[in-house]
Amino acid sequence: MRILYFGDIVGENTIKVFEKHLDEIKKEYKINVAFANAENVTMGKGLNVKHYKALKALGFQGFTMGNHTFSKKEIKEYIDDATIARPANLNTEYGKEVLYVKYNDKTIALVNLLGRVYSNTPLDCPFKTMDRLLDDIKADYIIVDIHADATSEKKALFYDLSGKVTAVLGSHTHIQTADEEVYNNTCYITDMGMCGPYESVLGDDKDMVIKRFRTGMFDPLPVSNDNNYVLNGVILDIKESGNQIIRFSKKYTLDN
Ligand SMILES: [Fe+2]
Ligand SMILES: [Fe+2]
Repeated sequence: MRILYFGDIVGENTIKVFEKHLDEIKKEYKINVAFANAENVTMGKGLNVKHYKALKALGFQGFTMGNHTFSKKEIKEYIDDATIARPANLNTEYGKEVLYVKYNDKTIALVNLLGRVYSNTPLDCPFKTMDRLLDDIKADYIIVDIHADATSEKKALFYDLSGKVTAVLGSHTHIQTADEEVYNNTCYITDMGMCGPYESVLGDDKDMVIKRFRTGMFDPLPVSNDNNYVLNGVILDIKESGNQIIRFSKKYTLDN
């Protein structure tokens, strides 16, 4: 089975890039199942129902989120019924800790965890949360999206979970790392990178980010309107002879 997993999708215009190119990417790389981190879709923070439905209709079978999961309040109204795994170590009654996705006779369990290093959100321990979930998960494959700042926390979680899950994939920094590897048949990358406007600072308008750094004034940061986009992610090639992880990074231009 080949699974395509995209990192943080930034801005609603990026949906148009998927609209144009997702099918051809899936075909070219013989993809069976596509997942994405969708925490930054709607105006760069959160996911409204309209954008959730649009992405789902394009052929994504599941989504993970991050620190911006509940930034758009309306998500509380639809998340319980959505194909979304919310951060499992967040203490809330909304949404699913584990999203089960079927492909033919196989079941994939998708889990989202938030890192605690450099975070001021009160969170349960991601390591112990995963211990708890692993006691109950019944699936052929388990994929964990660890949404975190610190490389050390992500890498430690990877070694802790190696041999127990199919993949530990990092998200949140928006910059793709070049450290993909497989250990004990568990695939890993520190960060999948983002899907969004190329000329930007992590997806946001570069001039506004410069202004913020130069002045210390925290004006809202709009998503960049560059019409060149980068789609970053990984392909998981799951097979009997041993799992593989391949980095995906491609640029596209949207015509106005
Ligand atoms: Fe993000
Ligand atoms: Fe994030």
